[in-house]
Amino acid sequence: MKILIRIAVTVLVFQQLFAAQPAVYGTHGVVVAHDRESCDAGIEILKAGGNAVDAAVAVSYALAVTYPQAGNLGGGGFMLIQMADGRSMAIDYREMAPEGATRDMFLEDSGKVSETKSIRGGLASGVPGTVAGMQLALDTYGTLSRKRVMKPAIRLAAKGFHVSYGLASSLNWLNREAVAFPETRRIFCRDGDLYQPGDRFKQADLARTLKRIQKQGNAGFYRGEVAEAVVQSISETGGHMSLDDLRSYKAVLREPLRGEYRGYSILSMPPPSSGGLALISMLNMLEPMSFDSVGWHSADQIHSLAEVEKRAYADRSSWLGDPDHFEVPVAELLSKPYAKLRMMDYDSTYASPSDSVYPLNDSELATIRALQGESEETTHFSVVDQWGNAVSVTTTLNHPYGSFVTVPGFGFLMNNEMDDFSAKPGVPNSYGLIGGEANAIEPGKRMLSSMTPTIVSRDGKAFLVLGSPGGATIITSVLQVIHNVIDYDMSLQEAVNAPRFHHQWKPDDIQYGPRAISTDTELRLQAMGHELSLRAAYGEVNAIMLDDRFGGWIAAPDYRRAAQAVAY
Ligand code: DON
Repeated sequence: MKILIRIAVTVLVFQQLFAAQPAVYGTHGVVVAHDRESCDAGIEILKAGGNAVDAAVAVSYALAVTYPQAGNLGGGGFMLIQMADGRSMAIDYREMAPEGATRDMFLEDSGKVSETKSIRGGLASGVPGTVAGMQLALDTYGTLSRKRVMKPAIRLAAKGFHVSYGLASSLNWLNREAVAFPETRRIFCRDGDLYQPGDRFKQADLARTLKRIQKQGNAGFYRGEVAEAVVQSISETGGHMSLDDLRSYKAVLREPLRGEYRGYSILSMPPPSSGGLALISMLNMLEPMSFDSVGWHSADQIHSLAEVEKRAYADRSSWLGDPDHFEVPVAELLSKPYAKLRMMDYDSTYASPSDSVYPLNDSELATIRALQGESEETTHFSVVDQWGNAVSVTTTLNHPYGSFVTVPGFGFLMNNEMDDFSAKPGVPNSYGLIGGEANAIEPGKRMLSSMTPTIVSRDGKAFLVLGSPGGATIITSVLQVIHNVIDYDMSLQEAVNAPRFHHQWKPDDIQYGPRAISTDTELRLQAMGHELSLRAAYGEVNAIMLDDRFGGWIAAPDYRRAAQAVAY
């Protein structure tokens, strides 16, 4: 937990320093992402005639250069695609536990979970998925060549880009934290000759790695010299990953999850993310409630959402995991009868203590099945193209700079995604999330995620494209932006920038960001039985919305991490 608190403070400091970039409007193409260079990479590809998938691949590779905290080659993510012709698809390029992984690999001899092994060093890394994911996206929906879409990223790595204030501060932090990782300090901290805002940051090693991928595709990363260097660097920093682990990694096409909320269609990420399932089940629980006369961020509204969140996160702890290794009751948890059953003990005036909110049990699951017989440091960017194709991507190394292991000679960082597994039943991970059997470590299994790339449609057309970083808080951040737009009629920028709060079942408290809850509302919530705690601002919901007035697109970057948007 210590590590995360420090990370949260770093993020808070950056966000206070910058004025928000306002929303932008365009009719041909819009990109909203963490930084300007990555947005520009996407726009360049759209202007070259590429579609939103081509542009998303370009943005993803650009972020691997400009945003080493989260953009990556050595990590993974999810891409959700909705084409204007009605086709939709989820691409799962989540990392995978290596064959050498064992259920108890993060337990000390005393039986306690190690505080560091799943966070720093080679043991923390899962087999990376990004390169395979980008290739699958291009093969399935792309229209331009890999050669073309990777050009902006290669240029950024080879010629460099100007270090922003935020990146310089973050690299300063890395220099202090990564003392035990000399290659990381060499590449990102110039061995202590720290980058200042405005300096040009060139990455020759990374440029070579990108060129190799550009030329050879998956083989340029999962085989040959890069794969050998990954295996060696993981082994030298205490982990085990084999050439076979890399060679056998596959990105997967998955059917997106679908839901309905007040006439809007929701498309979101299926397992191994918990995000789509929790999001849709929370919307199902909210739907019977009316917010017409409930003030925004009043005690009543916050209470309703916190109660809904508590129930969804309780289910997440027991029932969510890699669907290729654990049977996730997706259709049941997504059903409206389930939401009704789940809310039977909801009291609109009093908080249910989390200790009395249990995950769905086997007999309740059977009841829902019977009812069903009648009828189922992360970063986010969104892209929409001139044809109305929409792409929503969340990608990550997990914590900023992942495991801190930079692959020598190749200039990229490895993830620390293994911490997203449940190291021991009932023991929280670094986001305070509890898991059990469904998310236990197994070789070849993908760790459960909260990443929630989502597309909301109206009358069959993409209406809202969004997602966020923020670990456990991702799902409730996405929920609140959708709720702000649909139930409170906010403009997109207002909905994105609005303060947020979060409940994840355990710990049993409403965590709220700066200015999210006034003191008198806090007192009312306490009287209803809630505990509350203030935390640093979190999330970066980079969203796009259809504009009703002129028919184009509005892109709204989240002010919290000084995100950017470009449109034309
Ligand atoms: O997949 C997940 O849920 C986490 N690894 C995401 C990490 C994250 O959002 C960190 N960013 N702030």
